[in-house]
Amino acid sequence: MASASRTFTRALRTATPSFRTASTRSSRFVAPTQSAFRQQWQRGYATGKEEEPDKYEGNPTGLIWGAGALLAGAAVYGVYTQKPELFGAEKVKAPFVARFENYQQIYDAIAKRLEEHDSYDDGSYGPVLLRLAWHASGTYDKLTNTGGSNGATMRFAPEGDHGANSGLKAARDFLEPVKEAFPWITYSDLWILGGVCAIQEMQGPKIPYRAGRSDRDLSFCTPDGRLPDASKDRSHIRAIFGRMGFGDREMVALSGAHALGRCHTDRSGYTGPWTFSPTTMTNDYFKLLVEEKWQYKKWNGPKQFEDVKTKTLMMLPTDMEIVKDKSFRKYTELYAKDNDAFFKDFSDAVVTLFELGVPFVQPEDQRWTFKSSFD
Ligand code: HEM
Repeated sequence: MASASRTFTRALRTATPSFRTASTRSSRFVAPTQSAFRQQWQRGYATGKEEEPDKYEGNPTGLIWGAGALLAGAAVYGVYTQKPELFGAEKVKAPFVARFENYQQIYDAIAKRLEEHDSYDDGSYGPVLLRLAWHASGTYDKLTNTGGSNGATMRFAPEGDHGANSGLKAARDFLEPVKEAFPWITYSDLWILGGVCAIQEMQGPKIPYRAGRSDRDLSFCTPDGRLPDASKDRSHIRAIFGRMGFGDREMVALSGAHALGRCHTDRSGYTGPWTFSPTTMTNDYFKLLVEEKWQYKKWNGPKQFEDVKTKTLMMLPTDMEIVKDKSFRKYTELYAKDNDAFFKDFSDAVVTLFELGVPFVQPEDQRWTFKSSFD
């Protein structure tokens, strides 16, 4: 027995020096890599001369013992990695990886808040949530690959204070309790999820979603002037949306978002809603543009249009461009006639808008579609 144990010790020393040192130095032993293992094994067996730590006497028993010890060690290591608590070590929790279900929970939380807080504006935070998601994304510049929804840089004073972003604090504050309840989501993913939820909950089309935006510091704030100016004409619209990579058809489809919400004198200086149902997504914006007569509103404010019949609805100068410009008008007429075509093009363009400049890991063909509260 004593000689067997001597042989075992010797075999251990000759055959697996790295195993030995690692296991004696620390209570957690480190398994040798395969190649190290192979080298040591070969050296002990074939070229004992080089180091001659022990004399190999030509008896294979030591090697068999060594191999046995290694196998036993590997088994113990296997158990250790699976059940470290058996060895007195704390169980290491696997990092939390959010999945579709986790994001659906956030969607549901936003939808619930939308329903609960129905005394805001025309009865919903939906429109201002959509405007937040759009203004977070619409700063994108394809040439420099800067801006876009990755970063949520509107949290910081320079960008949050840009005139175009006036009033969006209401949307950011609305989402804050959701961020507190689900702290693992980034602001940038949350703001876009807020926009997706708003569209769907206001009975708009499904907006497939990808997560993966990260929050960035204020050095990533974009310069003022990247969002559109409502007082300008078609060349401005094309310059702004062209910079993001959009064509005429997408520009018109995206403008259909003005079926929702209203202008506020204390935010943009303009006033009034575009449609009679500002908390329900429809193609009414296009219908009204094509079918109604519009005139300048006589008031002590910036130049805007009102409908001749009721004088209760409004259009911005940029809105009027999509019915005056020949190429834009083609799509305006199409969407006025065909709500399905509008919903499809709007969804496609908004997905693109919300993803501009974001380095996703989640592949394009694996976007998530959330259930809305009325599905
Ligand atoms: C030429 C392009 C655009 C211009 C000049 C423009 C301008 C404006 C202005 C001046 C307001 C009023 C803000 C306020 O006083 O509260 C507004 C509101 C809004 N915009 Fe746009 N916008 C444009 C494109 C878009 C796009 C592409 C979207 C979304 C895809 C969008 C969604 C909205 C929504 C939902 C509101 C209502 C917000 C609320 O009710 O609080 N807009 N927009």
